[in-house]
Amino acid sequence: MDQALIDQVKGFLDPREGRRLYELALEASRMGPCLEIGGYCGKSTVWLGTACRRNGMTLYSVDHHRGSVEQQPGEPYFDPELFEPGSFRIDTFPWFRATVETAGLEDTVVPVVCASRLAARHWKTPLALIFIDGSHDFESVEEDFRLWSRHLVTGGYLLLHDVFKDPAKGGQGPYLVYRNAVSLGIYHVLPMTGCLGVLRRKA
Ligand SMILES: C[S@@+](CC[C@H](N)C(=O)[O-])C[C@H]1O[C@@H](n2cnc3c(N)ncnc32)[C@H](O)[C@@H]1O
Repeated sequence: MDQALIDQVKGFLDPREGRRLYELALEASRMGPCLEIGGYCGKSTVWLGTACRRNGMTLYSVDHHRGSVEQQPGEPYFDPELFEPGSFRIDTFPWFRATVETAGLEDTVVPVVCASRLAARHWKTPLALIFIDGSHDFESVEEDFRLWSRHLVTGGYLLLHDVFKDPAKGGQGPYLVYRNAVSLGIYHVLPMTGCLGVLRRKA
């Protein structure tokens, strides 16, 4: 794993969470392809994709690359370097593409550049790991969970980022979806790493 490369990619993942993504994807990608929602500039993509590459497997990375609400101008996570003055919009895709190329993942990662809902519309491929890290409001996380979790294979991993039980530490969307998923009783609940929730589909 090229830690120096990962450190210089813009993103929102702590190294311990990244390492856990890598370990889970290494195991999962022996069963089938993996998918993330929210690639941004490619930090999580490098962790997941490097693991998939080791097994000759594929990582689908779904992101419209226009940024979440909190990444727009005037919002707390706005990054002016990602702003396209011409179109007056965020565009993280050039950054994502450069990361994938530098990491040597062009034969592993399939960028799916559109809204999660659109990518899911005709999706049929069973998935061994799903990492949900797109928009963080409850409705969006719930929709991502509903649209994608049905494709998870038995023994596959469902991962949610930014799961904060304490509202003082972060928004409640991912936590409420995580809690609802746990209450279904169809997942083994595995230890979290940082704010990464880890569920495994039961038989
Ligand atoms: C928090 S960032 C992802 C961070 C990334 N996983 C990392 O490791 O740095 C959220 C990303 O989700 C994308 N996104 C938000 N809503 C989306 C949607 N409905 N469909 C596709 N992508 C979405 C945004 O464009 C943004 O790049």
